[in-house]
Amino acid sequence: MTNSTGLGFIHNFEEPKKGADMVLFLLHGTGGTENDMIPLGREINKSAAILSPRGKILENGAPRFFRRLAEGVFDIDDLKFRTGELSDFIEKASDFYKFNLQRVVAVGYSNGANIAASLLLLRPKVVSAAILFRPMVPLVPEILPDLSTKNILVSAGSYDPIVPKVETDRLVDLFKKCGANISVHWENSGHELRSEEITVARNWLCNLLK
Ligand code: MLT
Repeated sequence: MTNSTGLGFIHNFEEPKKGADMVLFLLHGTGGTENDMIPLGREINKSAAILSPRGKILENGAPRFFRRLAEGVFDIDDLKFRTGELSDFIEKASDFYKFNLQRVVAVGYSNGANIAASLLLLRPKVVSAAILFRPMVPLVPEILPDLSTKNILVSAGSYDPIVPKVETDRLVDLFKKCGANISVHWENSGHELRSEEITVARNWLCNLLK
């Protein structure tokens, strides 16, 4: 159910099923809402809690998580500010809904994957693993964080017109430099998601939990 408590973001929260302690932090693409990623989240894990905010930036009425100057050209000051704001939201939500910050798995698509990557690079404390569908390099921090305890799955489209292969490679190299445990999946697709890669994400997360 959509909730607009004092936590700073309109969002959905669903309690975990009995015994589960993982939280899927769902981040939609441009034009999405707090509702859009929930079916995908449920396909990835049926019993985790779900926390799904709506991006606060409106681009011609389309919600996003940070401003951009053009397609793929980001407003870096705004990105840094919005990353901090979203990180504060996760911390407040963890107090309010009583979930463990160490168990947060970010699942982002497109603009949502980009802010998730930015969280990993600037505020890694609030995300322990991430599934990034069609991410780009959001920014390169001056000081690289230590991501050696983080597991990241990047799912890229082999003919994505928005995210060329070289951009995916650059992001993977950046995460590797930070010491992350990174897996990459190439889907025979453009920017749109295919059901095959959702199965890949489900299995990847399942293996992580073993
Ligand atoms: C972005 O702005 O984050 C990327 O260009 C992806 C998109 O939203 O189209």
